[in-house]
Amino acid sequence: MKIFAYGIREDEEPSLKKWEEANPNVEVGFTKYTLTADSARLAEGSDGVVTLQTSPYTREALEVLNKLGIKYISIRNVGFDNFNFKDLNDLGFTLTNVPVYSPNAIAEHTVLLMGRLLRRVPEFDEKFDNGDFTWAPTIGKEYREQTVGVVGTGHIGRVVIKILQGFGAKVVAYDVYHNDDIEKQGLYVDSLEELYKQSDIITLHVPLFDSNKYMINDKAISQMKDDVYIINCARGELIDTDALIKGLDSGKVAGAGLDVLDNENSVFGKVWSSVDNIPNEKIKNLAKRTNVIITPHSAFYTETAIHNMITTSFDSNKALIEGLKPNNIVDTTK
Ligand code: NAD
Ligand code: COI
Repeated sequence: MKIFAYGIREDEEPSLKKWEEANPNVEVGFTKYTLTADSARLAEGSDGVVTLQTSPYTREALEVLNKLGIKYISIRNVGFDNFNFKDLNDLGFTLTNVPVYSPNAIAEHTVLLMGRLLRRVPEFDEKFDNGDFTWAPTIGKEYREQTVGVVGTGHIGRVVIKILQGFGAKVVAYDVYHNDDIEKQGLYVDSLEELYKQSDIITLHVPLFDSNKYMINDKAISQMKDDVYIINCARGELIDTDALIKGLDSGKVAGAGLDVLDNENSVFGKVWSSVDNIPNEKIKNLAKRTNVIITPHSAFYTETAIHNMITTSFDSNKALIEGLKPNNIVDTTK
């Protein structure tokens, strides 16, 4: 059996080596390149493919894999919004993801972004760079005075809620599916509009679908409290960047913590040396503000997460090749 992996980084290699040692009957090939129509050919002779990228998986790349007789694709991450399900189904692929590699990694990053905004850390940093060691005017706010609206109470949203409750924040939540524990605590509100109305901080933890693209738009922002903070560690396309910029300009939005951005692939993963060199004007606009914190889709990036992403994705791909049905097969019929 042979598995070929795409986009393998140096920090993943020790976990990959451990997996190979534990699975001596599997030949593993890998490349640092992402899966494209060109790199797809590297998988020749393999039974399955393991991959991770934030850019779209093109039909052309999938067609090459299909011609090589490969039917199994296992992604090392949670979100599969960069696949076109029709392409996968037309070409007969089975897809697995890693639904729970470490919700804590993303949840901790989320609450950290909130804390940095509440305590105005970027502004203090700027003052510090100018040799200014004074207090005013960078007075902060405490978590326990905040109502945080958590949109999506799946694996990550629920850890966010638990951490926030430890800080004494009040939580309201919205999800199309009600989790028993969150229901019992009486945290759900009936609509997004109600969540927007009540929340001092809004944090997104839902998958991206065609139906919720740009869910945070002008209308949604107009329904929010004045001085709201918006946090997004889910998918960039959930927020209409123009609407966010307008909200920040008007002062309606007090700040934003963004681990993901619409069109982030034009900027993330590269070194620009200075914010001025960022080639995307909207992202540059956000990056220049001291009340906006941008991280490069790195909420997931912890040692624990990386190890689990490698182990589960390779285990799943091997299981598929062996004709088994792991419980993390993505339902591509929806
Ligand atoms: P999950 O599937 O466990 O939870 C998602 C929740 O969203 C579910 O409870 C679901 O019912 C709910 N939901 C779906 N559509 C909704 C809608 N339109 N309105 C309200 N609720 C809706 O997923 P998760 O593990 O919590 O991850 C959430 C998202 O976080 C992923 O889909 C992915 O896009 C993103 N993510 C980001 C990073 C990162 O590094 N920034 C890492 C992992 C995941
Ligand atoms: C995910 O797991 O869905 C992420 O967003 C992490 C990223 C490395 C793709």
